[in-house]
Amino acid sequence: MSTKDFTHTQVGIVGAGPAGLVLGHLLHRQGIESVILENRSREYVEGRVRAGVLEQGTVDLLIEMGVGERLQREGLVHHGVELRFGGVGHRIPFDELTGGRGITIYGQQEVVKDLIAARIESGAPLLFEVDDVRPTGIDTDSPALGFRHGGEERELRCDVVAGCDGFHGVCRDAVPDGALTLREHVYPFGWLGILAEVEPSSDELIYCHHDRGFALHSMRSPQITRLYLQCEPDEDIERWPDERIWAELHARFECKGWSLKEGPIVEKGVTPMRSFVAEPMQHGRLFLAGDAVHIVPATGAKGLNLAVADVRVLADALTRWFAAGDESGLRGYSATCLPRVWKAQHFAWWMTSMFHRMPDDRDGFMARLQRAQLDYLCSSRAAATSLAENYVGLKHVVLATEDQIV
Ligand code: FAD
Ligand code: DHB
Repeated sequence: MSTKDFTHTQVGIVGAGPAGLVLGHLLHRQGIESVILENRSREYVEGRVRAGVLEQGTVDLLIEMGVGERLQREGLVHHGVELRFGGVGHRIPFDELTGGRGITIYGQQEVVKDLIAARIESGAPLLFEVDDVRPTGIDTDSPALGFRHGGEERELRCDVVAGCDGFHGVCRDAVPDGALTLREHVYPFGWLGILAEVEPSSDELIYCHHDRGFALHSMRSPQITRLYLQCEPDEDIERWPDERIWAELHARFECKGWSLKEGPIVEKGVTPMRSFVAEPMQHGRLFLAGDAVHIVPATGAKGLNLAVADVRVLADALTRWFAAGDESGLRGYSATCLPRVWKAQHFAWWMTSMFHRMPDDRDGFMARLQRAQLDYLCSSRAAATSLAENYVGLKHVVLATEDQIV
């Protein structure tokens, strides 16, 4: 569809990441129109290497939405995770501790590819390479999105706007000053992540605590390994030639009877670690979802999953409103999502704090506390169960009732 073909839609969605694409698909299935505006190219969005761990609830939803066929074929279902410290591995069995639940390893860009294919097949509009998106009138009953596409200035009038444009997007900034409370914690380290063309060295993920810093072994397929190393928050990737990366990974993962397989590195990047929440997650006719309104440090693997949980609530609220004029779901959107968001924030902060070397820990006090916590986790079924049920994902919440709305 060309941009000339429409001037109005029910839901204007900014951003074609997991949040925007899942929302668009859920709405389409309810017969609700939306237009998705994305500032990058399709190629860029489909190639962006990010998350890899899908919670059970995310997988179940994608399957229910009809976009889980390849995920079910190619995704790697894991029933446990290894915590490695002091050079020894300890397995946390998710299935045993959570009544059979688990996680699925399937790259975020694969989820995005499947959702884009479904969107295009549905014929619903999704515009790439859109410039200068400007939400306006969000305090009124007729918000709009101004933007430029193909060199032309456009305006899309909407009933509501969904800001699914990630942490650096424009929607959060469209809220008037003072209407949102921002809470943030920035960590004094980042992650250097690589993709290597080599079979994984273990069947399951390994979260590794080491005096030299945290390391994580993950994967994308039986042929591709994903590895992360704790690094400086502003690390210069040029300082990390492949040999240095492998040497550091070998040092941190060292474990008797186990060795790390090496292969050609095909992708390298540095990610800072941040916790951030903007409250409430809505203003007037603007509803924020996913990274646009909260960021978690990557250690708990929660970001993509939280984005999906948000838009599930938003899609239900919008369905109630468009189908029956019932505004309660929309008014309660933020109140419904935030308790689960904060639990995920806590889990991600806790995992991050337990595994990373703290730069100002001169006498090793923090490292000793971390080791005590890890020891406890691996010797107490109660503690291990808490980690397992958070890792596989807390239940998705349903819309708040009138009395819960603040
Ligand atoms: P995004 O994916 O950021 O999508 C926003 C979209 O909006 C983008 O396509 C962007 O191009 C577009 N956009 C931005 N600005 C504009 C604009 N002005 N106009 C139009 N479009 C715009 N999460 C997990 O759950 N599990 C994991 O294992 C995990 N691992 C991670 C590992 C790494 C290295 C990183 C970086 C992140 C990881 N995450 C993980 C987090 C996860 O990737 C994000 O939380 C997720 O992408 C959030 O989805 P989103 O749709 O809200 O935002
Ligand atoms: C991956 C990313 C994470 O943040 C995490 O905690 C586990 C795995 C991954 O990219 O595979």
